[in-house]
Amino acid sequence: MSEYLLDMRGIVKDFNGVKALDGIDLKVRAGEVVGLCGENGAGKSTLMKVLSAVYPHGTWEGEVFWEGKELKAKTIRETEEAGIVIIHQELMLVPQLSVAENIFMGNEITFPGGLMNYAAMYKRAEELMAELKMPDVNVALPVHHYGGGHQQLIEIAKALNKKAKLLILDEPTSSLTKSETEILLDIIRDLRRKGVACVMISHKLDEIAAVCDTVSVIRDGTHVGTRAMSEMDTNEIITMMVGRQIKNLFPREEHPIGEPFFEARNVTCLDVNNPARKRVDNISFKLRRGEILGVAGLVGAGRTELAMAIFGCYPGQYEAELWLDGKKIEIDSPRAAVTQGVCLVPEDRKRHGIVPLQGVGANITMAVLETYAKFGVIDAESELHQIGKSIERMRIKTASPDLPIRGLSGGNQQKAVLSKMLLPSPKVLILDEPTRGVDVGAKYEIYKLMFELVRQGLSIIMISSELPEVLGISDRVLVIGEGQLRGDFINDGLTQEQVLTAALGAVGMAA
Ligand SMILES: Nc1ncnc2c1ncn2[C@@H]1O[C@H](COP(=O)(O)OP(=O)(O)OP(=O)(O)O)[C@@H](O)[C@H]1O
Ligand SMILES: [Mg+2]
Repeated sequence: MSEYLLDMRGIVKDFNGVKALDGIDLKVRAGEVVGLCGENGAGKSTLMKVLSAVYPHGTWEGEVFWEGKELKAKTIRETEEAGIVIIHQELMLVPQLSVAENIFMGNEITFPGGLMNYAAMYKRAEELMAELKMPDVNVALPVHHYGGGHQQLIEIAKALNKKAKLLILDEPTSSLTKSETEILLDIIRDLRRKGVACVMISHKLDEIAAVCDTVSVIRDGTHVGTRAMSEMDTNEIITMMVGRQIKNLFPREEHPIGEPFFEARNVTCLDVNNPARKRVDNISFKLRRGEILGVAGLVGAGRTELAMAIFGCYPGQYEAELWLDGKKIEIDSPRAAVTQGVCLVPEDRKRHGIVPLQGVGANITMAVLETYAKFGVIDAESELHQIGKSIERMRIKTASPDLPIRGLSGGNQQKAVLSKMLLPSPKVLILDEPTRGVDVGAKYEIYKLMFELVRQGLSIIMISSELPEVLGISDRVLVIGEGQLRGDFINDGLTQEQVLTAALGAVGMAA
């Protein structure tokens, strides 16, 4: 018997002639935790979809050996029965169904005779919630009742409930808080002790370093190398990923900062389901011309709601008094916001950022289509020209601008959404988690772009849960906690501790 639980050899997968995987090998031992790293579009998710038969045997070339025997699975059910369980990058839960129903979907516990045994399913679901340190979750409530982080953990519970020999986690922590991430990493360690192997895909290399035994790096659909984590550090992973060294992850540049230019006064948002609760509680702040204002806080603190209120798209009741360039402005819809120079790149790109089936190009020019219209007719040539420029500027990896955007890798979708919001030439650009799911190289490019924009006089509000990013890029930092402004700091040697202390309730007003 082979020493490997999984041995993938020479996998080739192409999409309409474009090779996403070009002869990749991947090996995993029983109980081994393998980090799968690579830039956006390198082919990580595609390789795992080949393995789990999302792409059935016959739609790709190469061989997959599982427990020493060739696996030619045609369906996900077959791979699951073999013990291969995947948690996809994009959540697959059905929002209207209950937590328990989602966990047991396709896998229901029944009485002999076939009737659903709800009591047993609820009990098991509750056990899983306790294991994931979420004892407060009511497993009878619909999933949409819970936020992104909880949903991610529910998805993980669903996978844990299947008998996995190999668990594949595709960017499992992108919407988890620090403490939720710790819980997940502990679960992976626990599974390893029980002999369950893991493939973990993440752009957060510190997590890879914390939990993985080996790291396999892929680039442009080929295997670059596999090494023991104990023999290298995260910098070496980066070098393997991008093929060059990136010394300074945060390329902060000096830039002039002008007078206060944009102001939000008394922003208050009421909870959609429970108007007695304030999601944002009377927040006021100023933004200077050419300034990058970081907005830090714990997940759920009200940062996204604040951004939505400013952009005119908060779904519940809200108030916000806005001033731009000395004049009071009225924003009651995203359209009004964009026309007046305020743009938002949303956090949840799948829900608000893209039209999945439309082309990459059409997605990019969506917000400014009128600009290309003369007498109601779209000037296709100048539109195409602009799309070409955007794709080049952000180095968006796509075979063609006509390709449906959902075919792009996660990080490249994010770059396309950013391009879209730059076309209306905003004066104030709000970026909500702009580098979520984005690889180190592309992060670097996004930061560079931000500095280029502020040097041209634009002002940026950047919401981010990555404290190193907030501290590495911002000129000033707002800290939000439980809907309130808890701190407003000039970022001159500001530390993570100072920000966290403020987020947790201690007040600090230095700016
Ligand atoms: N359904 C599809 N149709 C066409 N092209 C696709 C499809 N799925 C993936 N691709 C292409 O295959 C390549 C690999 O994509 P994949 O999603 O595997 O990247 P990834 O390494 O997971 O990236 P990320 O870190 O951004 O998630 C990309 O160039 C992508 O555009
Ligand atoms: Mg991916």
